[in-house]
Amino acid sequence: MNISDKLLQVQGVYKTYGEGQSETAALKGITFDVLPGEFLGIMGASGSGKTTLLNCIATMLKPTSGQILLENQNISSFKGSQLAKYRGSKIGYLFQEFELLDNLTARENILLPLLIHGENSKNQELQLQRLVEQFDIGEVLNKFPSQMSGGQKQRVAAARALISNPSIVLADEPTGALDTKNAKSLMEKLSSINKNEGSAILMVTHDANAASFCSRILFIQDGVIFHELRKKVPVENRDSFYERILTVMAQLGGGSSNVL
Ligand SMILES: Nc1ncnc2c1ncn2[C@@H]1O[C@H](COP(=O)(O)OP(=O)(O)OP(=O)(O)O)[C@@H](O)[C@H]1O
Ligand SMILES: [Mg+2]
Repeated sequence: MNISDKLLQVQGVYKTYGEGQSETAALKGITFDVLPGEFLGIMGASGSGKTTLLNCIATMLKPTSGQILLENQNISSFKGSQLAKYRGSKIGYLFQEFELLDNLTARENILLPLLIHGENSKNQELQLQRLVEQFDIGEVLNKFPSQMSGGQKQRVAAARALISNPSIVLADEPTGALDTKNAKSLMEKLSSINKNEGSAILMVTHDANAASFCSRILFIQDGVIFHELRKKVPVENRDSFYERILTVMAQLGGGSSNVL
């Protein structure tokens, strides 16, 4: 096997749903790498295969062909405790609709992944305090989701995604249900954690503003990657990167809200 320092390697992944008449080819040969600590965005029209790709990486779906390696290990070969460890501590998930459990408080929701995987309680408390500060959620720790605002719920969900200190966070439109102010606040916090703590983030988004926080963006169309944008090093500012993202979106034809 070719050992590399890449964190994630997606190699020639195809995914077809259904059979015969109802067959849909959602991914048609996707290949890319994610480096440790990278903040990678995925953009593309509705139905282009973004969620399918994240679900394959999360092992919730099995690719029809191709392979996905995390830290040089083929994730489809994981079974039993190795699979549980991968799902529980190597990856974190963040979804559009928060997906908090209604009958648990914020604190309990955040700690749930650690409880399932049997971390010791001293570690838990330290990790929790760190995330509470970073996401500014001290006030809501003992509240239930129905007692929190949308922005607070999503910051709690982000803390839950990071509590196990994963190698990579998979985020599917994390700002999709937030207003502009809360979206910006979430992105600033995610971006600072990404810079300071080195968890890589793979984020699907329709929002050029959210995407401008990424260091690189892959544009997907009809199940294939058709364009890539990289933030220029050493430092391209976010406004300039945002303008370049809008230009690619415009080339795809149509406005940002309905096409991407
Ligand atoms: N479980 C499924 N069974 C059959 N077809 C599916 C299934 N899930 C997704 N598809 C199809 O696969 C294609 C890709 O869907 P996917 O959900 O990955 O798109 P997406 O890029 O995430 O779109 P959106 O931006 O609307 O969330 C679409 O044509 C969709 O209809
Ligand atoms: Mg989707």
